Amino acid sequence: MSTFTIDTSTSRATPSPVPGKRMTVPAIRGRKAGGKTAQPIVMLTAYTMRMAQLLDPHCDMLLVGDSLGQVIYGLPSTIPVTMDMMCAHGAAVVRGSWHALVAVDMPFGSYEGSPEQAFAAASRIMKETGCAAVKLEGGEAMAPTVEFLTHRGIPVIGHVGLTPQAVNILGGYGARGREKQEAKKIIADARAIDEAGAFCIVVEGVMESIATDIARAVAAPVIGIGASADCDGQVLVIDDMLGMFERTPRFVKRYADLAAEIGTAAATYADEVRERRFPTADQTYRPKA
Ligand code: KIV
Repeated sequence: MSTFTIDTSTSRATPSPVPGKRMTVPAIRGRKAGGKTAQPIVMLTAYTMRMAQLLDPHCDMLLVGDSLGQVIYGLPSTIPVTMDMMCAHGAAVVRGSWHALVAVDMPFGSYEGSPEQAFAAASRIMKETGCAAVKLEGGEAMAPTVEFLTHRGIPVIGHVGLTPQAVNILGGYGARGREKQEAKKIIADARAIDEAGAFCIVVEGVMESIATDIARAVAAPVIGIGASADCDGQVLVIDDMLGMFERTPRFVKRYADLAAEIGTAAATYADEVRERRFPTADQTYRPKA
């Protein structure tokens, strides 16, 4: 389908190398054998073509997270994120990548009603984006849906612990599993979607010991975020780890300070425009001599 290729003669985009073999679902699933993952799985979120191009060589998986609601659209939560948003950004990330497996989040309201509703939404996401997998939030209640999708050719990543789409039930974004009962429930959730066939499971914002227990208890690789170094892989929201926001959650490590760099670049540009120091002869067109 032509939407998956970049016309490099008209595009600003750096051409992607000749497509090689992408990471596959069995390859990711197979990284955990006998309960152990020799090489942890590297996952980052991506929402745009160019960022996907930059991250792709370094990642096993790129996640088009519904965190794009806050990160790209300035929404207050992931609740208002739509299928149209996920499909547009998912297709852009697939276009910008050639190595990593691309997974796209199912937005709130697109899958919880029934397995059939989930199949309709997930198949639309896969057709319109070219992604290899979808991610959905929830544990025991979503296990029948995970099973329904995987038996019909749709690879599913589960997501348990702090599930941001449930913010109104949870009452906030604080770490989960401080109470014994809640810890037991999170572990039961992970086991349920593991048994239902999820090929990997994101565990977000839980006490470290819970994440470690889950990683040992389930067959699928466990990808942690605010979880534990014992997980089978890690994921971060790209804009958080690049330092694009003033405030970052405790579990984020800033690997760059892009907000400051962008501010400095914009301020320098503004000064040069106001002082007529930009553009110079180097940036203007003149008749050839
Ligand atoms: O939406 C998202 O970016 C996510 C990750 C934080 C795992 O779900």
